[in-house]
Amino acid sequence: MQVTYTLSELREVIGAWRSTGVSIAFVPTMGNLHAGHLKLVHEARKRADKIVVSIFVNPTQFGIGEDFETYPRTEREDMEKLIDVGADLLYLPSVADVYAPDALTFVTVTGLSDRYCGASRPGHFSGVATIVCKLLNRVQPNIALFGQKDFQQLAIIRTMVRDLDLPVEIIGIETVREADGLAMSSRNGYLTAQERAVAPMLYQSLCSARDALIDDKQSMAQIERDALLFLQSAGFQADYFSIARSGDLQRANAEDSDLVILAAAKLGKTRLIDNICFSRESMNKP
Ligand code: PAF
Repeated sequence: MQVTYTLSELREVIGAWRSTGVSIAFVPTMGNLHAGHLKLVHEARKRADKIVVSIFVNPTQFGIGEDFETYPRTEREDMEKLIDVGADLLYLPSVADVYAPDALTFVTVTGLSDRYCGASRPGHFSGVATIVCKLLNRVQPNIALFGQKDFQQLAIIRTMVRDLDLPVEIIGIETVREADGLAMSSRNGYLTAQERAVAPMLYQSLCSARDALIDDKQSMAQIERDALLFLQSAGFQADYFSIARSGDLQRANAEDSDLVILAAAKLGKTRLIDNICFSRESMNKP
């Protein structure tokens, strides 16, 4: 696996590949790689000749008081994992390589960015959209792969790519879970042993809400209220638990069939997010 640290080195390698006509898949990450990230690389391998992975803890997507300074940085272990899964190139830029000190341009996907996680993390999704746009421009891949665990992020990136005519196909890959259902996340490492035992209840709350929606005996508002009470009694500080249309993330109503239930909740100091996406129509079929 080649490793590049600067834009000029990256462009040199990508340019040489491009001249031979190969296809390129891109997996952007913030490092501290787990099985969820490695699945993205596996899926990339099925779809393209060359795989580029970036590791960049992006300061512009962290708010004041969030965990930018303490976010786990495990580059050596990450490199070994990437070699094992067959990545071709790791791009590992510094903040100075990515952001000029006088940069004035940010990308904001309006409407989608200020709800759910965006409501409690103002500016977060502008930071995400800006860095993903910059990385896509730098790598110029044919496809880019993102985990569905960050469902709102994925919707924002798809919308940005569509609206800015970026010549890349965005592919969402199913969430990888621990045996007890907890969605894999770099932030799971912050949980104490006691919190870790409780954490799978977030996914359980999503599954129960999905089953209740399919059962169709309670209103959506009631299902959301019950889930919030369940999370609170399990020891979470819930941020939101919302039933939305999976296509546009607008609030769902009783007639909608393609749904996503999105949830975020804190356990101690750790903020966990998860979601479950399904079609009521296909699940009601005999
Ligand atoms: O999902 C992430 O790890 C980050 O938000 C991303 C997409 C790499 C942008 O920094």
